[in-house]
This record gives sequence, structure tokens and C-alpha cells, in this order.
Amino acid sequence: MKKLTDNITLRHGAQIKTRIVQSPMLTNSGLDEKATQDTVDYYGARSQSAGMVIVEYTSVSPNGGPSRSWAPDREQLAIYNDDFKPGLTKVATALKKDGNKAILQIVHSGREAAYRDTLGGRVEVPSQMNFPWIDYPLHELTEDEVWQIVKDFGTATKRAIDCGFDGVEIHGANHYLIQQFFSAFSNKRTDYWGGSLEKRMNFALEISKEVFKVVKEAAPKDFIIGYRISPEEIHGDNIGYTWHESQQLLKKLTEDFEFDYINISTNNYKATPKDSNQNYAQLLSKVIQAPTLELISGDIHTVEKMNDALNYVDLVGLGRATLIDPRIAYKILNNQAKDIHLKFDEESVKEGHLTPGLVELLANTPYFDMPGIDYLKSLSNVKLDDVVTHDGTK
Ligand SMILES: Cc1cc2nc3c(=O)[nH]c(=O)nc-3n(C[C@H](O)[C@H](O)[C@H](O)COP(=O)(O)O)c2cc1C
Repeated sequence: MKKLTDNITLRHGAQIKTRIVQSPMLTNSGLDEKATQDTVDYYGARSQSAGMVIVEYTSVSPNGGPSRSWAPDREQLAIYNDDFKPGLTKVATALKKDGNKAILQIVHSGREAAYRDTLGGRVEVPSQMNFPWIDYPLHELTEDEVWQIVKDFGTATKRAIDCGFDGVEIHGANHYLIQQFFSAFSNKRTDYWGGSLEKRMNFALEISKEVFKVVKEAAPKDFIIGYRISPEEIHGDNIGYTWHESQQLLKKLTEDFEFDYINISTNNYKATPKDSNQNYAQLLSKVIQAPTLELISGDIHTVEKMNDALNYVDLVGLGRATLIDPRIAYKILNNQAKDIHLKFDEESVKEGHLTPGLVELLANTPYFDMPGIDYLKSLSNVKLDDVVTHDGTK
């Protein structure tokens, strides 16, 4: 029987001291896309939040971000040149100080890099098309430009190794560029990168190949490699892909590459598709080849739910619960579960070093609602009316 307190050895040898993982979460704390003292303080406060912390999505290419920011001077992080290394080295060091593993989530945001347009840059997509919620110009990538982005994932991995991260997670979920290529809704290409399901998989597979190559050349033997996926993408009648296609992608990814874990991104860890009584975790586990482990996140906010999630997966991902209580895993490992903070309040915000950008993001996004959100709203300087969400709605 799996327990939260189990010691886990990942397939390449890395050891983590609990099955609890901190899910990647944007902190909106970058300045010129570089980690700031706010970023370092926030991650430093989370050196005991989990056995392994996945640091927020960090752009691998100059046009790979930032996404729309909440304040002009607070942004998503990047790793597309060596200038980003000193700040990210501090982040990795802060996270690892109590034995936690530090993983960097690497991304190209594709059409979601809205703030790049505000900065006068180019926003890149697999196919030129109209998205009702997008009001900025889009650039359809040429074949050579796609290959360059594949290379960028490799170079970013090398930099993450140099910064002292214990691993990287390839961000193939949540509507960013890798998902945009996998999705028949947003990929209308007819070259190597699109057309059939097999070709829509090519971007994910080539990036994985590049990342594994760099890791083999430059990383310690126990370096961790993960891949994040959203199980389905459905826009009304318009199907990007279903879990059936996700199964095929994951089968291929875990047959061809030795991923340490696959991270499934959901709003609820027990969510089920329309055409099955089994949940996504159960359906996708059928194709994740051992010894690759399965991780899921989505509404796992109490010890009871963490234990329940272990009925389906190997590792449980906590997002917002680690914002409220930055020492949540430490408390579970040390018989102090009754002391876990369950709502935002003055103490949790202070102890958790929530960044100002994160306070604004949480306070102004009803989707992220959590107990104590009114306290965060009282700290927020932004009015909901001023906020433009990632899909362009007010
Ligand atoms: C503030 C915030 C920022 C997020 N940023 C990211 C991100 O950078 N990368 C990512 O893959 N998911 C991101 N997510 C999604 C989380 O990783 C997680 O899947 C989601 O919050 C559901 O888990 P939870 O209910 O435990 O919070 C973010 C979520 C929140 C609340």
C-alpha cells in the first residue's frame, strides 16, 4: 500500500523523501524575465513543501514568453540566454537547502506569450488562424524555426543543469506551444510537424529527444526528466485531442524515452472524460510504461485527498495548498498534519513569502479561488475590472 511518507527512488536513481510534489506555479515575480529576490524568497520558503518542487514555467526561447503579466514589471521567468543563470542558480540553491529536489519546468508559450507582443516582439504559433480571444498578431513558424525551438529546449536544459537543478519538466500541457502542436484544433500544418496524429506528435518527440541527448551528455546520472500533459483539449464541437490520442502520445513517449515521471494536469484529480467511467489517471496509467511514475495534480488540498489520489497514481501534485502552507510535506512527514494551514491569512502569506505578483494573480482570478482569498483581495492593488485574463476576457 502506497503511503505519502514513502521514500521513492526514481528510475535514474534520484531519491525523494515523500510522494508529495509541488506543482509548477507561475509566481509573476520576474523582472526583465529574470528571477528576483522575491522569486528566491518564495522558493526558499518552500524547501520543505514537498519531496520535489517543480519550478514555474520558464521560457526556452526569446519569443517563448512572457505570458500576459499582472503588472508591467513583474513577469514569467526565462532561460534563453546565460544572463538568466545567476538568478535561477539562486532559486535552485534555495529550494535544495533542506534536501528537496528542484525541477525546472521548461516551456515555449506559443500563442499565449501575449506580453511579448506588448514588449514589441513576435508571438509564434504552429498555424496562422483566428482565435476569438486573441487581439495581437501571430506568426506561423517556418519548419526551420520549429527546429530552432527544439534546439532551444536542449540549450535550456543545459543551462538548468549548470544552475544546479536536479531535473527538468517539459511543459506539454495547458495550451502552450507543445500542446498547440499536438492539437488538431491549432495545428493545421501539412509538413513534418502536422497533418496526421503521428506528425502532430513530432514536436513533443523531437523536443524529448533533444532534452534526453543533452542530459546524457551533460547531467549527473540521476538527473530527473518529466513531461506534463493535459489529458484532453476540447472546445465545444471542436476537438483538439481526446484522451485516446493522449494515450497514444504517452505510449510513444514512454516507450522511446526513459522519463522519470509523467505529470497529468487536471482541475480535479478524479475527473473523468465523457466516454468513460474511469478517470484520466486510470486511463493514462494503462500506457505509462514502468518504471516511469505517474503524477497528477488538481484539487488535492487535504491529507485525505492526497491519500485518495494514491489509489490512482504514484506521486501527488499539490499546487495551491503549498501556497497556503509552504511546509506542508514537512508537517505530514513529522506527524504535524493537524497544524497544516488550510486558508490564506496574515501568517500564511508572511511565512509563505507570497510574491506581490502572485497575490495579484490569485486575488483577481476567480478560477483560483481558495479559502481565505478575501484576505488576499484585501492586499491586492488591482481591481478585477482592470484585469485581462489569459484568454483575453475581462
Ligand atoms: C498561481 C498558479 C500558477 C500556475 N502556473 C503554472 C505553471 O507555471 N505551469 C503549469 O504547468 N501549471 C501551472 N498552474 C497549474 C498548477 O500546476 C496545478 O495544476 C493547478 O493549480 C491545480 O492544482 P491545485 O488544485 O493543487 O492548485 C498554476 C496554477 C496556479 C494556481
